[in-house]
Amino acid sequence: MVVVKTIKEVRETVKQWRREGLTVGFVPTMGYLHEGHQSLIRAAGENDRVVVSIFVNPMQFGPTEDLATYPRDLEHDKEKCSEAGADLIFAPEVSEMYEDNFQSYVDMNLLTEELCGLTRPCHFRGVCTVVSKLFNIVKPDRAYFGKKDAQQLAVIKRMAADLNMDIEIIGCPIIREDDGLAKSSRNTYLNADERKAALVLSQAVRKAEELITSGVRNSAEIISAMSALIDAEPLAKTDYIKIVSLDTMQQIPEIDNGALVALAVYIGKTRLIDNYFYEGK
Ligand code: PAF
Repeated sequence: MVVVKTIKEVRETVKQWRREGLTVGFVPTMGYLHEGHQSLIRAAGENDRVVVSIFVNPMQFGPTEDLATYPRDLEHDKEKCSEAGADLIFAPEVSEMYEDNFQSYVDMNLLTEELCGLTRPCHFRGVCTVVSKLFNIVKPDRAYFGKKDAQQLAVIKRMAADLNMDIEIIGCPIIREDDGLAKSSRNTYLNADERKAALVLSQAVRKAEELITSGVRNSAEIISAMSALIDAEPLAKTDYIKIVSLDTMQQIPEIDNGALVALAVYIGKTRLIDNYFYEGK
């Protein structure tokens, strides 16, 4: 496995692979890798070569968010990548990705208006911009994203289609701890009490799944059952619990065919997300 820091080195390596007729899978990450990321890297193993980017992208963090404290550990990430079968890590500095006179952005309407887009203004502009740049640098055949960031996955799929990017976008299942907590680099912020309290997210998701599976279709009823669970946990504070259309990410009062039940909850100062994808019948 090779670790490179410059765009030039990624391009040269990928060009050589292309000359050899090899396919390339790509997993963009912000590092501090866990089994969730490793599952994406393993899924990307369906290609001949796998590139992982590790870049904490300042553009997708709001001014009061955790950019400065976001966990970083390249040695730990190298081990996780190598275990999962990556061939190349691209770990650029901020100055490599954003020149001083950087002026261009990729933005999106509608799909970014609700959920995390509403409470984290400019987040998806940062995500779309950096992912477009990374796609232009790596030029993969396929790119892999976790379904935990369900809105991000929908946004990237829309962007790739709208901008005619010749890249297949693949969504991979949420990976959970044994007790149900969705794996996240931000789980490392939680102290022991908060770690226990964080289970309310997956409990709320399971409640939504139970209700939908048993035939409940009214969004308000499902959200109210989920809220009751979250509100009963003193360390938890709801950012949002919403049920949205899979296509538009806009709220729907009744679940018809498919739906995304998404929630963001503060556990102490840490904001965690989780969701349930109902694919419909
Ligand atoms: O999901 C993430 O870790 C980030 O949003 C991504 C896709 C790597 C872009 O910075």
